[in-house]
Amino acid sequence: MVKKVYGVIGDPIEHSLSPVMHNAAFEALGLDAIYLAFRVAEHELGDAIRGAKSLGIAGLNVTIPLKEKALAFVDADDVATRIGAINTIDFTSGTPTGYNTDGIGALTVLKERVGEIRGKEVLILGAGGAARAIAFYLDAEGARLTIANRTEDRAAMLASSLHNADFISLREEELKRHIRDADILINTTPVGMYPRADATLVNAGMMHSELVVFDIVYNPAETKLLREAKKAGVQTIIEGVKMLVYQGAASFRIWTGMEPPVEVMESAVREALSLS
Ligand code: ATR
Repeated sequence: MVKKVYGVIGDPIEHSLSPVMHNAAFEALGLDAIYLAFRVAEHELGDAIRGAKSLGIAGLNVTIPLKEKALAFVDADDVATRIGAINTIDFTSGTPTGYNTDGIGALTVLKERVGEIRGKEVLILGAGGAARAIAFYLDAEGARLTIANRTEDRAAMLASSLHNADFISLREEELKRHIRDADILINTTPVGMYPRADATLVNAGMMHSELVVFDIVYNPAETKLLREAKKAGVQTIIEGVKMLVYQGAASFRIWTGMEPPVEVMESAVREALSLS
């Protein structure tokens, strides 16, 4: 049998840890498969997806900045269509089928650490593809959301697509006032990501110790936002590594129909992060 090929497409792509994570999972389950990173420019996205299908590639992840544009080249499932972005393509049914596992990845981590989401006040920093996926799931769980974004129009648009959401700017005073009443703060922006690791939109003085602070940035594992949260005495701090692993695990299930070895995947990511 021919080795199965999977991969991730995006630009830039060299810092993605998805190859390390999925290859560790294939190895642990003894699957004859390999996962590679492909740098794909936006204007070549359609060719890349059609080419992947022709080459017999089994599945792809899609990352920044291609998640929204890739929708046009696949049959997306209902959730991904409503989110407006995909991060997973499955080629095994003939037609490229698009899914979005970002939101379920974030929800899984939050439920594990926080429990019940219904009625929680959640402040989301950012209004891009990742924010949309996460907001969609938390809204469906009955959370009350506030979207804070640099471009306010984008925040307004996202909030208006949800059942129970509002939007604000990133101005410090406004953020501080809303964080005072928030149960959960989630950063979905790339602020704090390697190589600009000393940046944060929220500092210790703006947080309270009862807050749950979740950063989806996974490189570095402990971002400046999470260090500030520690300084503020925050008890529940959630690293982006967990979301990377759970969204990857959900993609793995779609592609293989098998239960992914999440602990193996998390160890592989943490080991790669400690070496980088
Ligand atoms: P993704 O699909 O990964 O979410 P995206 O759609 O490009 O990526 O969204 C990135 C988000 O991070 C956006 O909310 C963006 O704000 P704008 O809508 O104003 O562009 C936010 N973002 C990126 N860089 C930022 C920065 N330096 N400061 C504040 N917000 C930033």
